[in-house]
Amino acid sequence: MDVYTIAVIPGDGIGREVVPAAVEVLKVLAEVHGGFHFKFQEFPWSCDYYAEHGEMMPADGLDILKGFDAIFLGAVGNPGLVPDHISLWGLLLKIRREFEQVINVRPAKALKGVASPLTDPQGFDLVVVRENSEGEYSEIGGRLHRGDDEMAIQAAVFTRKGTERVMRYAFELARTRRKHVTSATKSNGIYHTMPFWDEVFKDVQRDYRDVRVDSYHIDALAAQFVARPYVFDVVVASNLFGDILTDISGAVMGSIGIAPAANINVNGRYPSMFEPVHGSAPDIAGRGIANPIGQIWTGALMLEHFGHRDAAQELLQVMEDVTAEGIKTPDIGGHSGTRDVSDEICRRLRRR
Ligand code: NAD
Ligand code: IPM
Ligand code: MN
Repeated sequence: MDVYTIAVIPGDGIGREVVPAAVEVLKVLAEVHGGFHFKFQEFPWSCDYYAEHGEMMPADGLDILKGFDAIFLGAVGNPGLVPDHISLWGLLLKIRREFEQVINVRPAKALKGVASPLTDPQGFDLVVVRENSEGEYSEIGGRLHRGDDEMAIQAAVFTRKGTERVMRYAFELARTRRKHVTSATKSNGIYHTMPFWDEVFKDVQRDYRDVRVDSYHIDALAAQFVARPYVFDVVVASNLFGDILTDISGAVMGSIGIAPAANINVNGRYPSMFEPVHGSAPDIAGRGIANPIGQIWTGALMLEHFGHRDAAQELLQVMEDVTAEGIKTPDIGGHSGTRDVSDEICRRLRRR
């Protein structure tokens, strides 16, 4: 029996609704599947924790997390209580960076029973591989001057190592899929980093001659995600471009509330972290109507990461059966609550 220790951080807003729902589903899956078992331990680190303690997690928080096999996180952010850059850099981004979770894998595909806003989505099925530790998200820069000359400068960091690493990950993934990698660039307007990105992409593709490649400027690519998402297989993008593309691919699926994500530590030194694409959704928090599918699908990605492909597949199958049957939250046109969806998934898992 494989036993996995999972640090559970529900975080803020709807994270506290969708995480317990998804944990319940994972418990039932383990129970009916056999072969593996989870030991969950929950941590209350969040903006409320900050309000009480003046920090998003305790000083030894990372040491505590380090001992787990994986982290299962909901969402961080309560901008009414703590400024976003403080809460996110104090928890989510801190974990991603300190635990060298350098790759963010974000699949998107048409789901049965979930209407895409596109008239002709043609069963699209793509994965955005997002660089997760550098790029436009950096601490380098600052504020200068005062008065009329006041300005803020923010550096973007693209190392050869990090850029090559994310591209190789995308190519390897493409080899297990439809062997097509698209690069998200902006080398027409961004003078230094993006021509470098293109150069590294050219270098890396030499090692993957069996994989078809193309490259789009991010603005055109964003439009193509909406117009023809079915032409893409694996899309490799910088940190910020990947962030934006995956809210779009979530919306194209029908709701960002469905979109899953995996923050992968590739060197095996630290746990990986599994958290959906969406945020804490303060506008609907506390009403029991948040879509738990993004968090549950994210749980399936965690299972795949542990090598339990069959269990992950089973979960995705049941999840899709439930949406196909119309047991859905309002964001995807249903009338069910968070728990109605997760309870129905549990019920069907037990029945199989
Ligand atoms: P958001 O993703 O929280 O919400 C955007 C819209 O999508 C809202 O209308 C919301 O109701 C809806 N939505 C999101 N998830 C949903 C779900 N599961 N079911 C139904 N509807 C859903 O983005 P935002 O409003 O820009 O950010 C809110 C807060 O979350 C901010 O503090 C932000 O910084 C933070 N945030 C955190 C993460 C994270 O922790 N991974 C990700 C994105 C945003
Ligand atoms: C995401 C989020 C985060 C990001 C924010 C909350 C810092 O939008 O995970 O997509 O930009 O990476
Ligand atoms: Mn985002």
